[in-house]
Amino acid sequence: MLTRADFPEGFLFGAATSSYQIEGHAKGGAGPTHWDNFAATPGNVVRAEDGALACDHYSRWEEDLDLVAGLNADVYRFSTSWARVMPEGRGAVNEDGLDFYDRLVDGLLARGIKPALTLYHWELPSALADLGGWRNRDIAQWFADYTNVIAERLGDRIWSAAPINEPWCVGWLSHFVGAHAPGLRDIRATARAMHHILLAHGTATQAMRAAGMSNLGAVCNLEWASPAEDTDDCRAAAARYDAIYNRFFLGGMFKGEYPELVLEGLGPHLPDRWQDDFATITTPVDWCGLNYYTRTLVSPSDGPWPHYQQTTGDLPKNSIGWETYPQGLHDFLMRTHTEFTGDLPIYVTENGMAANDVMNADGRVEDSDRVAFVSDHLNAVHAAIAGGAPVRGYYLWSLLDNYEWAFGYEKRFGAVHIDFESLKRVPKTSYHALAEAFRK
Ligand code: FCB
Repeated sequence: MLTRADFPEGFLFGAATSSYQIEGHAKGGAGPTHWDNFAATPGNVVRAEDGALACDHYSRWEEDLDLVAGLNADVYRFSTSWARVMPEGRGAVNEDGLDFYDRLVDGLLARGIKPALTLYHWELPSALADLGGWRNRDIAQWFADYTNVIAERLGDRIWSAAPINEPWCVGWLSHFVGAHAPGLRDIRATARAMHHILLAHGTATQAMRAAGMSNLGAVCNLEWASPAEDTDDCRAAAARYDAIYNRFFLGGMFKGEYPELVLEGLGPHLPDRWQDDFATITTPVDWCGLNYYTRTLVSPSDGPWPHYQQTTGDLPKNSIGWETYPQGLHDFLMRTHTEFTGDLPIYVTENGMAANDVMNADGRVEDSDRVAFVSDHLNAVHAAIAGGAPVRGYYLWSLLDNYEWAFGYEKRFGAVHIDFESLKRVPKTSYHALAEAFRK
């Protein structure tokens, strides 16, 4: 595996988590979220599991920050939960929630780790879901108000901040595919959510800037789309998939435009005068984060727009079935640099593997496939840097096994194994390998 010495001076290594996936949402006075409601509805989540206890990070955060430090990480990417800080999404603040994040940030700084904040990693307060959630344009202001509360309390100690984790998941996956909360399958809801997510990205960025925060970014997830066969039809279908998944949000934020291939389907459903919002959506940021896991194969379908279907190829797969395709990470880093962000620093804000981890009789978890996965993707990052992409850091997803959304606790991405009964933390082989590679 490449190590710190192979990367440019100042390149940062880190680990990422998110609030609902690890904290234990039932603790500390947090309000209900649309993920609690989604999980409680049969058929949405494996065994209808939710984040009520998760890794109990809310109580065990000090041990977890020691694990971040032991990984020799420079930076830790975490999120604040809107519903923990403002249980109704608006108005009253839960002081215990703010205090928790205050301790967490101080705990990171005390260990010499840079706090990288995400303001929204998917647990929308239920009270806002009742009002239409991301479909309601007012969310841009609600989100800015919540951002102000966080900025006021934590802003002076945060190293970097990004408003919304993975706009594609918040928009398309949650409102068109229906696989994530709120589980809608509605094209109009999708168009509006996707646009309002970007608008809220802009209002939150402006709020943080006004509050004196710096090093503000955006975090998009990208998935490489390959034509299933080498035909014009498959290439066209893959291009449409690519536009929806990979070009819509970057295009909105960095170019102030949406791709034609998306507008052909979503255009009629966008809110009136949507073009006027680009002034806010393109509010300058200081860096761009890419989350990358896999590729997909795309071919045409007879159904309505977007007229495509997906298949998986024959590359090695993770335990969810996602193909391992490191070349896609390299190509996305190059594309983002040359087509969207120019000289702006780029970070790989998530990358990692769900593996079939088993604990040996002697209590060790030998996840050599995860080590190989990370190693191959670090090679891809290294090649992109050599090719001129200004990549400045890499975050592993994830520090801990955790609540993997619709997959419940079944799919494990952690460098640290969690026994979800005893909540015992056991660093896996990958943890030790990465700690060695990240050694300062
Ligand atoms: C990303 C999410 C993260 C986790 C990983 C596997 O899409 O940001 O919460 O679920 O995938």
